[in-house]
Amino acid sequence: WHGWRGIIEEYRDRLPVGGTTPVVTLREGGTPLVPAQVLSERTGCEVHLKVEGANPTGSFKDRGMTMAISVAKEAGAKAVICASTGNTSASAAAYAVRAGMVCAVLVPQGKIALGKMGQALVHGAKILQVDGNFDDCLTLARGLSEKYPVALVNSVNPARIEGQKTAAFEIVDMLGDAPDIHVLPVGNAGNITAYWKGYTEYAAPFADGEPHASRTPRMWGFQASGAAPIVRGEPVKEPSTIATAIRIGNPASWTFAEQARDESGGLIDEVTDRQILAAYRLLAAQEGVFVEPASAASVAGLLKAAEQGLVDPGQRIVCTVTGNGLKDPDWAVAGAPQPVVVPVDADAAAVRLGLA
Ligand code: F0G
Repeated sequence: WHGWRGIIEEYRDRLPVGGTTPVVTLREGGTPLVPAQVLSERTGCEVHLKVEGANPTGSFKDRGMTMAISVAKEAGAKAVICASTGNTSASAAAYAVRAGMVCAVLVPQGKIALGKMGQALVHGAKILQVDGNFDDCLTLARGLSEKYPVALVNSVNPARIEGQKTAAFEIVDMLGDAPDIHVLPVGNAGNITAYWKGYTEYAAPFADGEPHASRTPRMWGFQASGAAPIVRGEPVKEPSTIATAIRIGNPASWTFAEQARDESGGLIDEVTDRQILAAYRLLAAQEGVFVEPASAASVAGLLKAAEQGLVDPGQRIVCTVTGNGLKDPDWAVAGAPQPVVVPVDADAAAVRLGLA
């Protein structure tokens, strides 16, 4: 059987795992790289979407979580903890089940999408809703992991970054080289850090072999306007955006994100909720790809940059869309007309469908 084995087995020689590391996997990674026709036309470029919602728990977090949970299990951990805007907790909860561990989750009260809460619940996580925002949750989770026997699996855990860098490997493996530009949503800034690490590693000689990529892309990160501390140059005390996954005011990997931006000749900018929702609808209605709102920040950013004249035509661009639209369907339904009700009658249905 030669199916996809998950990112640890597929990229074992590039990851800090040993022969005795127990591999805890749901066969994450190997996600589709989808050519985006409408976005390509609009920008005059060759645009691809890295569809990370196709991971087992519906987001890119699974790449990091297979590593973090495997490393924690190797170290003998019986319990893991994370702060989360939803996706990390869904992923940690699922991988903890595979590892036979207890999973504790701290989420900002009332600020995570229902689908993600459902995932953490059904996987049996111990969930605390914190009377605060994500940044408060992360402070609490760090404190608990320092004082009690519980391993922290947020992206401040280096194993997470190692796992997530494999998305950059996959893109180079599929395209044959690195793209000119890579566009990402930015929240806690772990993922932009991870992609940059992956791209740089693939552009360097490895063992006895040649580099897999001849260059690195420019890294473009986009925060939501109401939660854009890196753009503002200072923490945002009360971050606010409809894209709850990236509602973060003080990113843990802030300096790494700036490093990725500066070393790659890239940028970190902001997009408004309105721009995010427009990109969210475009992706679903015109590209056939249903993502959650935070994921659309990358595409919203690309379109904004194109309007500003920052996108030279003819380039190869990859946008990561980070999470599945089913996690947060409220925004798909909101404002849409209720489907009409018809009797069991072909003629009546045909009239309603405009066929007759
Ligand atoms: N997109 C989605 C769907 C996310 O869930 C996150 C982060 C991001 C983008 C931003 O990635 O934090 O690496 O810059 N979600 C975290 C969580 C914070 O708790 O699930 P980042």
